[in-house]
Amino acid sequence: AIERTLSIIKPDATRRNITGEIVARFEKAGLRVVASRRIRLSEMQAKAFYAVHAEKPFYGSLVAFMTSGPVVVQVLEGENAIAKNREVMGATNPEKAAPGTIRKDFAESMEANSVHGSDAPETAANEIKFFFSDLDIVG
Ligand code: CMP
Repeated sequence: AIERTLSIIKPDATRRNITGEIVARFEKAGLRVVASRRIRLSEMQAKAFYAVHAEKPFYGSLVAFMTSGPVVVQVLEGENAIAKNREVMGATNPEKAAPGTIRKDFAESMEANSVHGSDAPETAANEIKFFFSDLDIVG
């Protein structure tokens, strides 16, 4: 089925000016950018977005990292977009990411892992709503 998923290009990637290289990976995989905005996350936004991790030991550091520079939030659309995006991203831990994936090729660490992608249909819907209104999304 045609799905939509939320992608975030993280501050480690905007800092190195590789957002275009990352978007090219999405497009080559058949994903289409149907909404895109470069923003700086406030501490409140970062905390709310990652609320599911609030009790994890890495939460504070993750919020600090995600607010350390600009991010590019995007809606990606395509056949099986959620799973496909996760395939293209590779494993959270870049050391475990498969060859040719974004995280294998670009991530600096488990935290500074260049991209975020929604993990399931329900989270995708919620994460898209977190950043975009229906009018922002042009398929
Ligand atoms: P992301 O897919 O955005 O979801 C949660 C983020 O927390 C993850 O990518 C990493 O940036 C960060 N993180 C840091 N340490 C860990 C960890 N041990 N396990 C999972 N995520 C981590």
